[in-house]
Amino acid sequence: MSRTRAILVTSALPYANGPIHIGHLVEYIQTDIWARFQKMRGHRCYYVCADDAHGTPIMLRARQEGISPETLIARVAEEHRADFADFRIGFDNYHSTHSPENRYFACLIYQRNLEKGHIASRVITQAYDPVEQMFLPDRFIKGECPKCGAPDQYGDNCEACGASYSPAELKNPRSAISGATPEQRESQHFFFRLGDFEDMLKAWTASGSLQREVANKLGEWFDAGLQEWDISRDAPYFGFEIPDQAGKYFYVWLDAPIGYMASFKHLCDRTEGLSFDEFWAPGSTAEVYNFIGKDIIYFHALFWPAMLHGADFRTPTAVFAHGFLTVDGQKMSKSRGTFIKARTYLDHLNPEYLRYYFAAKLGPGVEDIDLNLEDFTARVNADLVGKLVNIASRCAGFLSKRFDGRLSGEVADPELFASFVRAGESIADAYERRELSRAARDVMGLADRANQYIDERAPWVVAKQAGRDRELQDICSMGLNLFRLLIGFLRPILPGTAEAAEAFLRIPPLTWDVLPEPLVDHEIAPFKPLMTRVEPAQIAAVLEASREDLASQDARKTKPHETRTEGHLVREPIGETIELADFARVDLRVARIAAAEAVDGADKLLRLTLDLGGETRTVFAGIRTAYRAEDLVGRSTVMVANLAPRKMRFGISEGMVLAAGPGGSEIYLLGVDAGAEPGMRVR
Ligand code: 2FM
Ligand code: ZN
Repeated sequence: MSRTRAILVTSALPYANGPIHIGHLVEYIQTDIWARFQKMRGHRCYYVCADDAHGTPIMLRARQEGISPETLIARVAEEHRADFADFRIGFDNYHSTHSPENRYFACLIYQRNLEKGHIASRVITQAYDPVEQMFLPDRFIKGECPKCGAPDQYGDNCEACGASYSPAELKNPRSAISGATPEQRESQHFFFRLGDFEDMLKAWTASGSLQREVANKLGEWFDAGLQEWDISRDAPYFGFEIPDQAGKYFYVWLDAPIGYMASFKHLCDRTEGLSFDEFWAPGSTAEVYNFIGKDIIYFHALFWPAMLHGADFRTPTAVFAHGFLTVDGQKMSKSRGTFIKARTYLDHLNPEYLRYYFAAKLGPGVEDIDLNLEDFTARVNADLVGKLVNIASRCAGFLSKRFDGRLSGEVADPELFASFVRAGESIADAYERRELSRAARDVMGLADRANQYIDERAPWVVAKQAGRDRELQDICSMGLNLFRLLIGFLRPILPGTAEAAEAFLRIPPLTWDVLPEPLVDHEIAPFKPLMTRVEPAQIAAVLEASREDLASQDARKTKPHETRTEGHLVREPIGETIELADFARVDLRVARIAAAEAVDGADKLLRLTLDLGGETRTVFAGIRTAYRAEDLVGRSTVMVANLAPRKMRFGISEGMVLAAGPGGSEIYLLGVDAGAEPGMRVR
C-alpha cells in the first residue's frame, strides 16, 4: 500500500433552523462514502461538520417560537445529529459555529486580515424596519414586482415573471417581519477586500485540483472583477460581535466555513496525538477537502481561501462541488410530497437504499442528480436484494445445515477470486476520483459474475447427489468468499449492511488491504436476511407523510392567534369547518395501552399495543420525545379505530392515538377516566 495520507474532509454546514432533507443528504452521503473509503484504505482521514447556527433567519425563528436562539439551535442540533447518525453519516466530530473555538478562529482570522489592511470600512444605506428596529436583509423585504406588478414578491426576484431587481426597486415595499414600510438608514459596515487576493486566487485555481466546472466559474468571476465583501451586520443579530466594534456582528457567512476549523480544533482537543497545526499551518502536507453544493462555490472558492491566506493559514487542497437533487425529474415539492425530510424517510425506509441509490447516480461533476422513485425501487431490489444479498442467501443455508457453518480449507476457483481482487484496484480508483456511479456499477458487474458462478455450479443439484459433499462445501464457500469481496468493495456505500455481513461472516471490520486474503476453514454464523425489498407501499407512505409534514408546517406558518412564549401553548388557527356527517365517519374508541416500547432507529416513535376490548392493535405514535414507554402502560386514551392501516418502516400502524401540543417534550396524550371500558365508542 502507498504512503499513509493525512486527510481532513468536510461537508457544508446545515443551517440550525430547519430539518435535514433528502436534498441535503446527497452531499452528506457523498462525503461520507469518500471518507469511509479513505479510512478503509488505511489513511488518517477525519470527517468533521457542524451546525451553521448564526444569522437573521435563526434569530427570527427563535423569536417566533418564543425561545432563545441558543435553545433553538440546541434543539435543532439534536435533531440533525440523530438524522445523520441514522443515515450512518460517520462524522468524527459534529460541532456548532456558535462555539468558543469558532469565536476564537473567526476573531483571529478577522484580526490578522485587518492588520494586513484587507478590511475596509464605510457607511452604507440600507432598508430599516422602524417597528422591529432592525436592518432588513433583502429576503425580508416584500412588495410588488417593479416589472409585472405581482404582489407579495420577496427581495430581489419575482416568482411570477422571473425578473431580477434590487429590493429598493420594489413598489410598496413592506417588512416581511412587521409589515411596516422600510426606511432607508445609514450604518457603518466592514468589508473584506477580496480584490487583494486576485493573484493568489488565480494561482490556486490554476493548481489543477479544482473541478473543471468550478475553475471555469472562477474564470468568469475574475473577468467580472472581484468585489469587496460586506462581512458585518448590525444588532440585533445572532452571531459573534466584531472585536472592538460594539453592536456590529460578523455576517453568518464569515464564520460558517471557519466552523470547519473550529470543529476540527474541537476534535483535536479531545484526541490524543491529533495536531491542529499539522492540518492548518501554512505549507501543511495534509490534504483538506470541502464538499459543497454548486450554489455556494463563490463562498468556498473565493472568500474562504482568501480569508485563510490573509490570516496565514493554508488553503484547502480542493473544493468538490456537486449538483442539486430532483425527485422524479422535478424540483422537490411540498405539495407533491417530494420534499422529503430525512426523518420521514427513516420512518419508512432503510437508509442503505438511499445511500446506494445516490452512489449509483453520483459522478465527480456538478450535474444535478434525479431520484426517480420507480427506478429507486427497481434498482435497489434488483441490485442489492436480487444480486448482492442473494449470493449469501444462496450459499449460507447449505453451509449451516450440512457443514456446521464451516467453510472449505481452500478456495475452489482461485483464478476467479484473484480476478475479483484485481478488479478492486479499479474500484478503489473510482472511489478516489469520486466516480461513485462507476464504483457501484463495477461491483454490480462482479455480483453478476458471482451469481453466474453459483448458477453454473448449481449447489442445489449437487446437494441432492450422494458423495458430492466436498464439492457442495467448496461451491458455497467460494460463493461466500466472492460475497465477502463485494461487501468489502461496497462497505463505504453500505456501512450498515457491511456490518451485518461481517457479523454473519464472523470477521472484523473489513479494510482494503485484508481483502485479498480469503476465508478458509472458517466458521460463519447462521444467516439472517441482510436486507428486505423496497415495497411501493413504503414509497407511497413516504410521499403521504411528506404531504402531512406540509400540512402541519402550514398550520404553524399561519399567524397564530396568540404568540407562543416558552413553556406555553401554541394557539394554531382553527381549520375549515366540516359537516357532522364527516365527523361521524371517524370511529373514536377508548383504548387501553397494554404495552409500549421504544422503536429502534426512530427516536420519536413508540410502538403501542392498544387493547380495544377483545381486539388489540399496534399503533406507532410520535410521542417518544414526551413519554417514557413504561409510564404509559395501563393508561387509557382515545384512538381513531377506523384509520386505514399504514405501512411504516418498522411495521404496520393500525390506527392513531390522539394527543395535543407543539412537539418535543410538549405532547400531551389524551387521557380517559379509568371507568371507560376499552373499546367504548367516543362521542
Ligand atoms: O448554504 C448553507 O446551507 C450554508 N449553511 C452552508 C455553510 S457551509 C460552510 F461554509 F459553513
Ligand atoms: Zn414580476
